[in-house]
Amino acid sequence: MYRSKIVGTGFYVPPRVVTNHDLEKLMDTSDEWIQQRTGIKERHYVEDGVGAADLAYEASKRALQSAGMKPEDIDFIVFATLSPDYALPGSGVLLQHYIGARNVGAIDIRDQCTGFLYSLMVADNAIRVGQYKNVLVVGAEVHSTGLDFSTGGRDVTVLFGDGAGAVILTATEEKNKGILSTHLHAEGKYFDKLWTEWPSSKRIPRITHKILDNGGHYPYMDGQFVFKHAVKRMVEVINEALEFNGYTVEDIGMVIPHQANLRINQMVARKMGIPDEKMYNNIHKYGNTTAATIPIALTEALQEGKIKDGDLVIMASFGAGFTWASAAMIW
Ligand code: UT7
Repeated sequence: MYRSKIVGTGFYVPPRVVTNHDLEKLMDTSDEWIQQRTGIKERHYVEDGVGAADLAYEASKRALQSAGMKPEDIDFIVFATLSPDYALPGSGVLLQHYIGARNVGAIDIRDQCTGFLYSLMVADNAIRVGQYKNVLVVGAEVHSTGLDFSTGGRDVTVLFGDGAGAVILTATEEKNKGILSTHLHAEGKYFDKLWTEWPSSKRIPRITHKILDNGGHYPYMDGQFVFKHAVKRMVEVINEALEFNGYTVEDIGMVIPHQANLRINQMVARKMGIPDEKMYNNIHKYGNTTAATIPIALTEALQEGKIKDGDLVIMASFGAGFTWASAAMIW
């Protein structure tokens, strides 16, 4: 019986840094408000012409390099994004082309902030049943081209950044190594608490000049509602991962949480009794990069030596949908 383990990680953010002070020049906000309410200091934005698959390409190159693999070693690609380069086709096929992989399957997963963990479930199970040996799993987002930079959009716009993270999962027969479990959840009744309504395929036409003029194509979020659910569900799903595998909070080596708001992660840590040093946060540098946050954070935590061989690592996320998920692994 195979299970999967991560043998390579990599991330990439575009070079343009946008600080909170830069945003102060565009809308009525302040560095103080953003830092106090979210923990974010800066984020990275793409230049015109750079898409999610371009960021994913850079992250995947680094993940392949860290795994000591070549593009032709990859058997399957899973691409998580809410901001695909085009309405169609998906970004997975672009990445397959850009990295020069064989003509392997490439799927897009659209589960927003939880997209990377949903993708990990797909990849892990494809390996467990023996269908593939090496799977490239990527989370990549370009938010900056779809945000409202007027004061009306400030509550959402200041939160998000562009970036990509990638991991290579490979089949292993080692007993105490690799992905132990994935747990996924959704509660679709809250679909419109965090969403982008337009363009919509159920509307004729899908978008109008009037909708565009009113900013209906920008994301909307009921921030406080999302915040409360995020804390509750993150705690639940981390506990679910621990209980399923017979562990307790004391066994945790590192939690790699989604990066939506530093205060969410601090509240989750406090409620669960997880010490600060076991809750990895890097939102101050990148903002919320949605499907990319967990693979970026995992890569950085490894580069900083914060995850050691044999550590129990719990990844957990909550986001639009609502969706939430966790994965437990032994590093
Ligand atoms: O990744 C997907 C999941 N996403 C999340 O989990 C995000 C969850 N939500 C949040 O992180 C927080 O709710 C926000 C950061 C979005 C907002 O923080 P908050 O502490 O909930 O603030 P609030 O929405 O209650 O707004 C407080 C005040 C309001 O002004 P009044 O009505 O008190 O006068 C807002 O208009 O802050 C104002 N405000 C801002 N002020 C300066 C909202 N955004 C900004 C801003 N700059 N960017």
